[in-house]
This record gives sequence, C-alpha cells and structure tokens, in this order.
Amino acid sequence: MKIGIETISMYVPGYGLDLRELAKARNVDYAKYHQGIGQEFMSVPSPDEDVITMGANAALQALEGVEREAIQTVIFATESGIDQSKAGAIYIHHLLDLPSNCRTVEMKQACCSSTSALHFALATVALKPEQKVLIVASDEARYGLGTAGEPTQGAGAVAMVISAHPKVMEVDVDVGYFTEDVMDFWRPNYLDEALVDGKYSIKVYLNALEQCWNHYQQATGAIFEDFDHFCYHLPFSRMGLKAHLHLARQEKSSLSARELQQQVEPSLHYNRINGNAYTASLYIGLLSLLDQPQLNLEGARVGFFSYGSGCMGAFFGGTVMAGYREGLNSEARIALLRDRRRLSYEEYEEFYTHALPENGHAYRTRRHRTGAFRLAGVENHQRIYERVPVQMAAHSDASTRAYAAAPA
Ligand code: CAA
Repeated sequence: MKIGIETISMYVPGYGLDLRELAKARNVDYAKYHQGIGQEFMSVPSPDEDVITMGANAALQALEGVEREAIQTVIFATESGIDQSKAGAIYIHHLLDLPSNCRTVEMKQACCSSTSALHFALATVALKPEQKVLIVASDEARYGLGTAGEPTQGAGAVAMVISAHPKVMEVDVDVGYFTEDVMDFWRPNYLDEALVDGKYSIKVYLNALEQCWNHYQQATGAIFEDFDHFCYHLPFSRMGLKAHLHLARQEKSSLSARELQQQVEPSLHYNRINGNAYTASLYIGLLSLLDQPQLNLEGARVGFFSYGSGCMGAFFGGTVMAGYREGLNSEARIALLRDRRRLSYEEYEEFYTHALPENGHAYRTRRHRTGAFRLAGVENHQRIYERVPVQMAAHSDASTRAYAAAPA
C-alpha cells in the first residue's frame, strides 16, 4: 500500500515587505540580505490574520475534491499557538465544517512538529487505510524590530491531506532522528518574539543534519546518490544551500558544485520571497520544487531534512507520483505570492506592533486583504473568526473559489 500526500496547498498573507526597504531602514547593505542570507521579500500578516486564518485558508484549498467524511484526524502544527489549552485544530475544523466524528490535536516541537504530524498521519493511515488525515502547519516568524533575525521573518501555512491515495508524493516510513537539549532558539510564554543564538543555531542545525543522516543511513542503507532533489528546513534560503553542501562534503559526493546547487535550488525560491514560516517552511520548500515548470519530477526521489530548534531533527525520503501536477494548483500559488501588496516600512512597523487587547474587552480588527477567513476581533478573551464574503476575499483566488463551493 502506498501512503503519502494526496493534496498539498499553501497560503501566505496578502502583504509583504521588500527587504530593500528594510535594508534602508536598518542602514544595512542590501547585499547582506540578498546574497548573504538569500532573502528578498517577507510576508507580513495584517492585524486580521493569525495562524488560524492562514491555516484555514490553506486547508480550504487542500480539501478541494477530497471527501470530508474521510477526514477523521486534524493535526495542527505550530509554534505560534493562540491558546495554551485549546487546540488550533478545533477552530480550523469548525471553519471548514468538518465532520464532528473527528480527532483534533495541536502539536509542538519548534519548526519540525509538522514532520512528526506527517509521520503520525502515515501510521494512522497504515492502520486505517480508509481514513485520511488533514495536517495544517501555520506560523508567523517574529524576532523583533532591529534584531539580526528580522530579515529572516515571514509567515504562512501549508495544509496536506495524507491518505492511502497519494497523488503528489509517496512518503517513506523510515526516518533518521536526532534529539539534543540545546538553547539555540526558544520563546518563553511571556514573549511574542523568539530569542535566538543565531550563529550557534546554525551549528546545531548542521550537527542535527549529520546525526539524522547517519541514523537514516544505518536504518535504510541509503546513500546520498539515491536522491535526485533535497528539501531542507529553511529558516532563510541560504541555509538550504549551506546544509546541502555540508551533507555533500560529509558524504564525499562526486557531484560538481553546479550539480549540487541544482539539487536544492528549486526548493529555495518561495522561501526567498516569503521568509521563514517555521513549521510550514520545509513544505513550502517542497511546493517551490514541485511548482517548477521546467522540471518533470515524476518518480523523482526527494530527501527531506526537518529541523526544530531546541532541538530535534528528522531525515526521510519520498517519491513524486506520476501525474503529480494535476490538482497542485500551482497557478493559484504563484498568483498568491505575486499579488501581495508591498508595505512601506512604516506600514510594516504598524502591522508588526499591532497587538490584540489582553483585558478581554470587545475589539474589532480593521478589514484588510485576506483569503476566505479572517480574524474579526476578540470578545471575552475569545478570538472571533469570520468567513469573508466571496466578493471581498481579494487575496487568494483559490480560497475564494473553494469557499464559494463550500457548504455554508
Ligand atoms: N554582502 C554579502 N554578504 C554579506 C554581507 C554583504 N554586505 N554582509 C554579510 N554577509 C554575509 C556573511 O558573510 C554571512 O555569510 P556566511 O554565513 O556564508 O558566512 C551572511 O551574510 C550573514 O551574515 P552574518 O553572519 O554577519 O549575519 P548576522 O549576524 O546578522 O546573522 C543569522 C545571521 C544568524 C542567520 C540571523 O539572521 C539570525 O539570527 N537568524 C535567526 C536564526 C536562524 O535562522 N537560525 C538558523 C538555524 S535555527 C533554525 O533553522 C530554526 C528556525 O527556523 C529559526
């Protein structure tokens, strides 16, 4: 039985900041952002977007053509959770009118809980092949104004339906794991922004990659040359290239620098123009690879390295299915990224510093460009979400179309 990704989709906010603007405001040479860390643009959520609205908008697209009754598990993966108790999966389950006989849960381990969600989903489907699992990974990467991490910020969500009818990718069950208690990046409950030891985090990431690969090799006997393409967790796009060259050196690969670059470059493009989206980042990289019009990936073997600070890593493989392009909806994704409105630096700061009241008083958010769902405000310490009328959902044609077709 083949198990894997039946559908996959992505959502990003309707606004972004060109890093040229940020470089000017921070008096930094733009080449440091553009070449040094490989970033050009970052998505910025408006005050009426959060991880729930981004996740629900992504999931709406992933559920197009999928029979909802088969979804008996929804896993929400995030490190930007909105509640210490209630799972974000329940809000998304409600917004999407999913069947009530359903298990809903939220998972956390920095950027790699989405990958654990994927492997838990594979196990669920292996036991119950008639069931499907909806995974929603959604995050907003925040480091603080003027910090070294600021140019790597971003936001977005990926949703995947995992089933015994994979149309996009069959995912292997073998995984190489590594866990080590380190403080490279963390966010205490009382902070809105992550704390990070940047240079150390890169070292720890690369060590986790080595350890995961070694464990994966012991378990499977696989070699570097077994893979045609690689997708890495992308805190910023140059990290993917750094990681790939590191692994290639360790494995004494005979490929040229150009060939190595071609194995990883297609997965970097969306990150470069979106920024980090933590749990969603690796899978946005996969979509970036799959959307490349010049590559025929049918049957291609893809190696994945998922990294979550703190830290845990996982290395695993997958095989792209024949006919994977059908249902990928690449045009909608390309339009979504292209049509984001450019913020001025002042507007970015205004969005960034906007905070919901913490006193429980009723508060309405101003309407901005969103997909089919938005955060309407807060009342009695409860976030209020609403569906956006079709004609007003300016951002994301795909969500709008899907909403128009969804039950009211
Ligand atoms: N022109 C071209 N390149 C330039 C340049 C210029 N004018 N100035 C600097 N550079 C290059 C540097 O040489 C360097 O390249 P190398 O890494 O190849 O040496 C690169 O630009 C970055 O320069 P610095 O190291 O001086 O940059 P920095 O001190 O400002 O920090 C960072 C960079 C550590 C990545 C920082 O952005 C940060 O802390 N980011 C957040 C943490 C992070 O992303 N960690 C990654 C691993 S952890 C993880 O993956 C989990 C997660 O999602 C967070």
